[in-house]
Amino acid sequence: MAVPKLWGGRFDGNCDPLAEAYNASIDIDQVMLAEDIQGSIAHSKMLFEINVLTFEEQQAIEQGLLAVEQDFMAHPELFSAAQEDIHMNVEYQLTLKIGDVAKKLHTARSRNDQVALDFRLYTMKQNRLLKEGLILLMQGLLTQAKTHAASIMPGYTHMQRAQPITLGFHLLTYVEMFKRDLERLEEQYPRIARMPLGAGALAGLPYKTDREFLKNALGFDSVATHAMDAVSDRDFAVEFLATGALIQMHLSRLAEELILWSSSEFKFIKLSDAYCTGSSIMPQKRNPDVAELIRGKTGRIYGNLLNLLTTLKALPLAYNKDLQEDKEPLIDTAKQLMLALTLMTRMIDSATFNTDRMLQAVKEGFLNATDLADYLVGLGIPFRTAHEISGKAVKLAEGSGRDLESLALYEYQAILEAVVSGTDLQLGSELFESIDPCRSVSQKLSPGSTAVSEVEKMISDNKKLIEKMK
Ligand code: ARG
Repeated sequence: MAVPKLWGGRFDGNCDPLAEAYNASIDIDQVMLAEDIQGSIAHSKMLFEINVLTFEEQQAIEQGLLAVEQDFMAHPELFSAAQEDIHMNVEYQLTLKIGDVAKKLHTARSRNDQVALDFRLYTMKQNRLLKEGLILLMQGLLTQAKTHAASIMPGYTHMQRAQPITLGFHLLTYVEMFKRDLERLEEQYPRIARMPLGAGALAGLPYKTDREFLKNALGFDSVATHAMDAVSDRDFAVEFLATGALIQMHLSRLAEELILWSSSEFKFIKLSDAYCTGSSIMPQKRNPDVAELIRGKTGRIYGNLLNLLTTLKALPLAYNKDLQEDKEPLIDTAKQLMLALTLMTRMIDSATFNTDRMLQAVKEGFLNATDLADYLVGLGIPFRTAHEISGKAVKLAEGSGRDLESLALYEYQAILEAVVSGTDLQLGSELFESIDPCRSVSQKLSPGSTAVSEVEKMISDNKKLIEKMK
């Protein structure tokens, strides 16, 4: 026999089982069990405060809810599609457990403000977890950046070797990205933490609901100001998904570099065996699967954002069942991001960098051509002319299979005189010091540059900032 519905009063016919299954969201929203219980306990306390429940009734409801939570955790098979969603599953089990008094719990509440409450509490928790995950990853990056504050490597533009930088400097770029993500999560938190209960179905309630009490009991920052907006607003979830998409995009850029750097072509990094797999056919393979999957999950995380935006597009006020589709993308994004952040942190912590190979790469490919031009500028030559002289030196070196360090001083002098006719400038051997890749890095004077002193300063500034944000 079909289980009676909590809303069954005005119905004669039973639900088509297929429609019932289609309608149910319990498979998805059961992850909000803790929030639903927490919200209902606070609601029952508030009902006691405003004299809707007696103390005994409130206590029976509170103890019953805690017991129901334990039951569901011990026996997940109790979750039932016949009771549609987490809210009705909890209430149904509560009724079985404590009898008629359970039927008073839904006084001064609609599932519309209840689901908004649970979903906000859940998003607040995920926001906090993501912040913790980001901080751990940033700490891992900072530790490697400190170890490699002076390890020289090529910096790239257009995927061509461009100028010498340090590995510490390169890794700090990611710290900057994740720092902005952290800021975004921090900034949007107060917009999530607006307490919606007391809105009722859409129009408010004929009870003196103490919303301040609920706000404080549940750890919200403020109370939602407008009843109809409180039950229909899902902007906070969109913001979470948008920030999630950015975090994932940043992770995918880092993942891509780990993949490239661990290839035989680069050999800049060795990822720990713990995050690589072998090939079933090619015995020599060591595939960076985890990094590839972090890169690969990006489509799905972007999709979750577009999913919710599309669900909300043109949705009339106030609550519509469409809104039940809001949870799956957010739950998925939160779960996938936590996995990716944790695994990325472990990969960074356990990676070893091949600094000899990086230095070698700096020495091939004329990365010091800009330094040569800057040296000539120091002698009073205009930058464009210096650029031309340096370019001709690269051409000469390349044509004769040499690097800039191996050209003779007289060859530089000849190029100078060919470009600047009639010059009486005499180049000296300090030219060669100026094109040393280590000098190139330490010569940088601008704040935020790759100079080792700047890298060290940025590392310590970031560490302080993280301490403050924790
Ligand atoms: N499961 C629903 C959801 O996630 C709860 C709210 C249902 N409200 C309603 N009036 N049917 O949106």
